[in-house]
Amino acid sequence: MSNAPHLDPALIRPTLASVQPYVPGRPLAELRRELGDVPITKLASNEGPYPPFPLAIDAIQRAAAEQNLYPDPGAWAVRDALAERHGFPAERIVVGNGMDSLIKVLCMTFLDPGDEIVMCWPSFVSYRQGATVEAATWTPVPLDPGGAYDLDALAAAVTPATKIVVVVSPNNPTGGVVRDADLRRFLEALPPHVLPVLDEAYFEYLPPGSHDGMALLREGRYLVVMRTFSKAYGLAGLRVGWMAGPEGIAEAMSPVRNAFDVNAVAQAAAVASLEDAPAHLPQRIAEASAERERMAEGLRALGLEPLPSSANFLFVDVGDAEAKAIDAALTRRGVIVRPTAGFGAHGGLRITVGLPEQTDRLLVAMAEALQEIR
Ligand SMILES: Cc1ncc(COP(=O)(O)O)c(C=O)c1O
Repeated sequence: MSNAPHLDPALIRPTLASVQPYVPGRPLAELRRELGDVPITKLASNEGPYPPFPLAIDAIQRAAAEQNLYPDPGAWAVRDALAERHGFPAERIVVGNGMDSLIKVLCMTFLDPGDEIVMCWPSFVSYRQGATVEAATWTPVPLDPGGAYDLDALAAAVTPATKIVVVVSPNNPTGGVVRDADLRRFLEALPPHVLPVLDEAYFEYLPPGSHDGMALLREGRYLVVMRTFSKAYGLAGLRVGWMAGPEGIAEAMSPVRNAFDVNAVAQAAAVASLEDAPAHLPQRIAEASAERERMAEGLRALGLEPLPSSANFLFVDVGDAEAKAIDAALTRRGVIVRPTAGFGAHGGLRITVGLPEQTDRLLVAMAEALQEIR
């Protein structure tokens, strides 16, 4: 037993007792320690399976020598590069330490105790966490049966106390997407006291003709759009996310943002990634989509029913008892997927789409796991 004095629990804000923290997928190093020699196929955290783009790796190496200096607090090189790419003013773009950081800042900026945030559920847990930390009211609304946000139900849940309404599309963990026309109608019908937030973390994986939050902003619509370099751009480890929104959004958030939220290596990598994207992104997206469909087919051949997905992951609802058993049986075989209870989807498994050989290993392990437990 340690003699160290224990923290006085009375010091902790009582509000935090009701906060459900985000439980991330388990890191590779931890799994390696636990599983020993079993080769590990990690399909649990929706990262892209490829390294950063070549120009980003060069930029990371070059930036390494300058890390005695603080980064640019405004992340202006990233904002300027995003502004040029999207034809949108840099002053209305905010860059953060991953979208996760921006979600927290968003909640801190807009939500006082008793204010309301409305979103569909199961969905991405950081909005719930960020809101409940501020003692705001978090109102969940069911998804539609296909795992996409039910925009009619969402609109109907808005009250005079609602300040933020969130649309995650493609939704994590289910992969469902809202239709562009439905999204436009939803935005038009929202009362003006509500700030709509469109989470497009998986935007790059959407098929042509899908919604595009930056296009909506360019048209002059009132919303916040959130995106990340963590998925298709392969920079999850460096943590770069960004958001764009109405005039005044950056100023509103500046009192609560960390001044040096985005480190200099990450900023350099993000700028170089945008430069290199035209050469690499289309191919990676095409491969991910093809691989997702192959994985879906393989899972269907095993009797599972993945929901249609437009992201780099699939969601399979196998029911509570089987989800735990399948997860454990896959883990013993070195294949790590993500049980989705933490997202509000009890009995579900979310499987990230990786490289073809990873799909092959998943499908073999899944066939064995199902045989073992059924
Ligand atoms: C829907 C959604 N939003 C936001 C994020 C956070 O992304 P970041 O890695 O930029 O913090 C994720 C990451 O999994 C996500 O799935």
